[in-house]
Amino acid sequence: MSGKIPREFIDDLLVRVDIVDLIDSHVPLKKAGANYVARCPFHTEKTPSFSVNRSKQFFHCFGCEASGNAISFLMDFSHLSFVEAVEELADFVGVDVPLESKAFSAKHQGSDLSALYKVMEQVATVYVEQLRSNPEGKSAVDYLKVRGVSSRIAHDFMLGYAPKQWQLLTDQFDQQLLIDAGLLGKNDGDSPYGRFRGRVMFPIRDKRGRTIAFGGRVLDDSLPKYLNSPETPLFSKGREVYGLYELLRKHPKPQKILIVEGYMDVVALAEYGIDYVVATLGTATSQAHLDLLFRFSSELIFCFDGDKAGQAAALRAMEPAFSSLRDGRQIRIMLLPDGHDPDSLVRERGLDGFLAQIESAEVLSDYFFKSMAKDLNLTEMESRANLVARAKPYLDKLPDGIFKGMMFGKLKELSNVVGLSVDKSPGFKGPLTKASKQIRGVVRLSTTRVALALLVQNPRLAELVVQREIDWSGIDFPGIDVFKSVLQVIEINKPANAAVMLELYRGSEDEKMINALACLELLVPEEGVESEFCGALDRLMHQARLVVLDKLLIKEKSGGLEPQEKEKLRSLLAIECRTTK
Ligand code: UTP
Ligand code: MN
Repeated sequence: MSGKIPREFIDDLLVRVDIVDLIDSHVPLKKAGANYVARCPFHTEKTPSFSVNRSKQFFHCFGCEASGNAISFLMDFSHLSFVEAVEELADFVGVDVPLESKAFSAKHQGSDLSALYKVMEQVATVYVEQLRSNPEGKSAVDYLKVRGVSSRIAHDFMLGYAPKQWQLLTDQFDQQLLIDAGLLGKNDGDSPYGRFRGRVMFPIRDKRGRTIAFGGRVLDDSLPKYLNSPETPLFSKGREVYGLYELLRKHPKPQKILIVEGYMDVVALAEYGIDYVVATLGTATSQAHLDLLFRFSSELIFCFDGDKAGQAAALRAMEPAFSSLRDGRQIRIMLLPDGHDPDSLVRERGLDGFLAQIESAEVLSDYFFKSMAKDLNLTEMESRANLVARAKPYLDKLPDGIFKGMMFGKLKELSNVVGLSVDKSPGFKGPLTKASKQIRGVVRLSTTRVALALLVQNPRLAELVVQREIDWSGIDFPGIDVFKSVLQVIEINKPANAAVMLELYRGSEDEKMINALACLELLVPEEGVESEFCGALDRLMHQARLVVLDKLLIKEKSGGLEPQEKEKLRSLLAIECRTTK
């Protein structure tokens, strides 16, 4: 979709939808007090920690800390982008998504994206027809047969053939569109030429099935063996994988995903029923690849050739692997026997042979420590120091959490090094039980946090602050800047509830804070909200007055006050006497 969705539409959508109905249609909810609960869809658990609150229009899991509004839920649950989630939500509510000035965004993106998607789709169909009907395509069909690709799999992957007569495309499609889509190459001043000629074509489809790029293989040993689409507005090689759409069609929620290197590996494994495979397109596995795949499955298996190059590739993958690991995610490493790629291995050993190989894949931590300790004799102190020096830079990259603590623990155990920085690792404070988390949350609530949380959860309360006509100059209490900025955001945007409030902060550095404030369980009954808020506000003002009073009193003792300050002191004392009576 091109064009921006108007802000008011999104706000309106979040007011119309009832998050309880929305989530209930995906995860059946049970009423429990003021909330609706279920076992959390974002992590495995036996007793429900996932709760949905109708008045806040918010969900929150006490176990895994997932939280957000209806849009966040769809993004996380159905693996959608923001725009897709808004579209789906609009669908649920039964309204159409309007666009802000479509012409504007099209102008700024070169060819209209939808025109590019369309031409890619049509060209993919042309390639399929060419495979069937072009006499040249016969040799491509023969080639696929030799490679053991059945017509069923060719169909599933929409394999095609790009004839040597590439003018076929320029006859049917707009030349500029073909250039923008990467199907024609063009050097400055020269006339354009067909990029793919005489190749078996593999369309690369995004998760929604739209063709965004192609890979093409020659039918013989000539070079380059494979050609890929260049970077286009639809395609960024370092972010996409081959086979994801085909995988998700078979398994919307795959238990695991196998990551291989080549197009033919994906196709060959699918031929044997191993249909949870994607390929990085001849590039190293990137952080973006892993983030994409972890949206769909919590277990990824990296498959590398067993030779030296494969082992080096495995080590190179450690860095993105480590930075993408969180508690609950798992990466396993599978090294193939020397001389094999997945395609050749499954054809030689069959389905069971290959499955056994998958089974033997090592978890990342085991593989990691094994390869780090390679050639080291850990009975020697130098070698143990060496191990720490090799491993620590990787482990330092791990996001804070239980896993990081465990990895450092393991390194400590292997190296016998006392005082390794694991104990100081900032985020790791040992697993918190649900109860201790809640208690920690509750006892540490400052007045400012209570006031802020009440405000975020009931933005209408800002009106009470406005009514007081507070003169903010000279007023100070902990967190006042945040308090004032939240007030301002509410006054300008007038959000109807916490869900809309969150939308105002999505993508900003304060998003996390707003999310956390929205989730705070304040245990204030609906009818007590206003007085609770006024009470908190009074306490904050009282604190602020005390700070000023202190300053004035000290000054009075040391050197006397200006007349203005005396006046201020008198009025402050008067207020304090009144309020403390
Ligand atoms: P391989 O050469 O291992 O490919 O390259 P493969 O899939 O085993 O090829 P077959 O079995 O000979 O058909 C792995 C991947 O690297 C990229 C492709 O994505 C390929 O699938 N590659 C390889 C290129 O982009 N260009 C090349 O010239 C070669
Ligand atoms: Mn191969």
